[in-house]
Amino acid sequence: MIQDLGFQSPVFLAPMAGITDKPMRRLVASLGGGNIVSEMVAINALQRKNPKSFRIADVRDEPYPVTVQMVGGDVELFIEAAEFLQELGAATLDINMGCPVKKIVNNHSGSDLMRNPELASRIISTVKKSSPLKLSVKFRKGWDNNHVNAVEFAQMCEESGADFITVHGRTRSDFYSGTADWDIIAAVKAAVKIPVIGNGDINSPQSAKKMLEYTHADGVMVGRAALGAPWLISQIHNYLTAKEEPQPVSITDTKNILLRHIKELISYYGEKLALPLSRKYVCWYCKNLRDARKFREHYVRIDNFAAAFQAIEDYFNACEMLKGEDK
Ligand SMILES: Cc1cc2nc3c(=O)[nH]c(=O)nc-3n(C[C@H](O)[C@H](O)[C@H](O)COP(=O)(O)O)c2cc1C
Repeated sequence: MIQDLGFQSPVFLAPMAGITDKPMRRLVASLGGGNIVSEMVAINALQRKNPKSFRIADVRDEPYPVTVQMVGGDVELFIEAAEFLQELGAATLDINMGCPVKKIVNNHSGSDLMRNPELASRIISTVKKSSPLKLSVKFRKGWDNNHVNAVEFAQMCEESGADFITVHGRTRSDFYSGTADWDIIAAVKAAVKIPVIGNGDINSPQSAKKMLEYTHADGVMVGRAALGAPWLISQIHNYLTAKEEPQPVSITDTKNILLRHIKELISYYGEKLALPLSRKYVCWYCKNLRDARKFREHYVRIDNFAAAFQAIEDYFNACEMLKGEDK
């Protein structure tokens, strides 16, 4: 069981580069439930003392346990990175062996490690020996449909010392398209003794339960469905652990959570960076509301936060007022 490793919940927020940053993590954690995972940290950039990577990796001021994800392909650098990340507050370490992005794969890291299980094994066993932290590995179904090796890869992770694994039911060549294959997650679960977290296409508490029942996985990891819906993690947690039915989130609550998200962005990045960053969040939070496209087109042209906050108030309040007319 994943709880035997000290995790409070069977639900994990997925690592998402540029998204599960400190503002998002703080917000998701404040809404309760779920385990928090960082965006990936490039270990070669950490070694160069790149200030941006250092900042991404520093979770010391977060009052909840954070799993920090490392990406890289050099065994020696992993040893240094694991030590450094522990100093920077990581509660658990994860190794990214699933990222499909060309720049990462060309660097012999991410999902390229699924084509090089010997190197992957050396990385896992070396990190495990050198760090007292719990270690997980996140990977995919395989490289492509002709090279599906998640089961053997999972067994290799277990033998090399990983404490648990997360399987995304797509191949590298799928990127994010098509439907995630939950059968491969079930096959992995049946093949190893360490806890398995299933990942891919969970978009509601009900679908999380369905995945657990279908695959017998020990937990679920949720990515894209939490964009513009950070409350989803706690809803899934409450549904799975306390059978609490999810309640619809009102338009006013959505607005207030978006405003909190933007304030977190400002306090972390400063106004100048936070304004362009806020645009994608505004798009996600209003995706199911009326005239969302028109509002987005208006919001992206706004150049100061006073106007941005006013526009959000006006738009969401109008949606709330007009809600009755939609029925
Ligand atoms: C924008 C974006 C960034 C991502 N960044 C990472 C990352 O840094 N590390 C990682 O292991 N996976 C990353 N992923 C993959 C997700 O963690 C997850 O495996 C994938 O989205 C499938 O889960 P979902 O169907 O719940 O979204 C990213 C996905 C997206 C959409």
